[in-house]
Amino acid sequence: MEHLERILILDFGSQYTQLIARRVRELGVFSEIRPYSISPAELAQIQPRGIILSGGPASVYGAEAPLPEPALLAQDIPLLGICYGLQVIGQLCGGEVGRAPQREYGRAELQIDETATLFDGLGDFLTVWMSHGDHLTRIPPDFRVIAHTANAPIAAIRHRHRPLYGIQFHPEVVHTPRGSELLANFVFKVCGCRGDWNASSFVERTVAEIRERVGGEQVLCALSGGVDSTVAAALVGRAVSRQLTCIFVDTGLLRENEAAEVCSFYRNADFEFRFVDAGERFLSCLAGVTDPEQKRKIIGREFIAVFEEEAARLGGVGYLVQGTLYPDVIESVSTRGPSATIKSHHNVGGLPEKMRLRLIEPLRELFKDEVRRAGRELQVPPFILGRHPFPGPGLAVRILGEITPERLAILKPADRIFMEELRRSGEYDRIWQAFAVLLPVQTVGVMGDERTYENVIALRAVTSMDGMTADWAEIPRSLLALISNRIINEVKGVNRVVYDISSKPPSTIEWE
Ligand code: XMP
Repeated sequence: MEHLERILILDFGSQYTQLIARRVRELGVFSEIRPYSISPAELAQIQPRGIILSGGPASVYGAEAPLPEPALLAQDIPLLGICYGLQVIGQLCGGEVGRAPQREYGRAELQIDETATLFDGLGDFLTVWMSHGDHLTRIPPDFRVIAHTANAPIAAIRHRHRPLYGIQFHPEVVHTPRGSELLANFVFKVCGCRGDWNASSFVERTVAEIRERVGGEQVLCALSGGVDSTVAAALVGRAVSRQLTCIFVDTGLLRENEAAEVCSFYRNADFEFRFVDAGERFLSCLAGVTDPEQKRKIIGREFIAVFEEEAARLGGVGYLVQGTLYPDVIESVSTRGPSATIKSHHNVGGLPEKMRLRLIEPLRELFKDEVRRAGRELQVPPFILGRHPFPGPGLAVRILGEITPERLAILKPADRIFMEELRRSGEYDRIWQAFAVLLPVQTVGVMGDERTYENVIALRAVTSMDGMTADWAEIPRSLLALISNRIINEVKGVNRVVYDISSKPPSTIEWE
């Protein structure tokens, strides 16, 4: 197989590192994030077409400053340093970095002094986004200044003979409107990339890789009904269809009608599909439990048990498919370390070690929107690709307090009404995640001439890029009124509906 051309992004801890990777991929070139400390041996193995050094919060002259192996600058691979990355190049090549007289943050007007290569086609002026406290005070020998701003006399540099570039601003953020064109100049003109990475080439390459790796062995996959596990299964299914068995466990904690809807799609897929109705089993294990972490543990444990029983029936399985995505992979190697990860929610995480299975993670290089594109390529239907994320423990963490069949019978229709109205109004696709929560309190109300003392449903809807931070969604007032009316009228046992207006942080998306 032809070597996959890739741009390597070395992470120095910038909040924008992932954004650089995305922008490069949008240009049709595969990009990969690695820690700044990558060894020359690893580098030789990856054989990138070019390297981008990210920004970062440190000062290159600080005692603990993250600096790459000096060998990185001695080789021939084209290099672009962004912000802190520019300062790394400056410092390691013999220039000088110091504190800027004043911190520069926000929009700036860049005057381009040399239009060749990096700034090709971008005119004389460029609006850019700056965010730095340090700057290059002396340019290294053999480099020249190719752009400046009123506050930064050295805002971009290049080496006279070698493909080394540095820019003080951030081309990856939307506030640098023509930033993608600059990155395209680096990726295509400096690095000579072809730009043929897309959903269809990804599918083709991955299918071939899976086929080669799996050989004649059996493969198992736990389906959740969500986007990631479905697309992962569809990929593996395309590669080794008859060797793949997918198991879908109905924990009884799924949304109303969800199991039936999802099964109707899976039953027609070209892999072996098994449906396990384990609702009663999960409910009896959860009886009397109110602590959220306890609920998660019980569900995780039971899930593994059910899954193992099914796998044992099958026998002779060599691989397990998991829908791990790229953000899960990068967080664990970022310079900020694993502590920057807010929560890790892998409810099938214990499976591979326990069952001694080797893992196939066909999506571990993709961002969520790229997974959706691959899914479209694999003809996964839009009703699955457009779904909001749904937590592994399901409605268990949306019924605050004890989970009983009666309380499930209140939450499920309330949640269904909320979803129906969001879909009908077109709001569903604008929202990252929405759901109803059953609170463990009763409040007073009046219905007809009677006083009632019944349950409260909280509605939660957030917008987000990745679930790590989120804003509460501004759903139109008339729609909220309609949803509230319908829930109170149609769901027995509810006399009050409230809307959650907290953002994350400091709140979380789920209530438990
Ligand atoms: P929080 O509540 O931490 O949620 O803001 C962030 C995202 O993670 C989902 N979530 C879970 N997913 N198992 C999962 O598989 C869990 O235990 C779990 N808890 C939260 C949540 O729905 C949101 O998308």
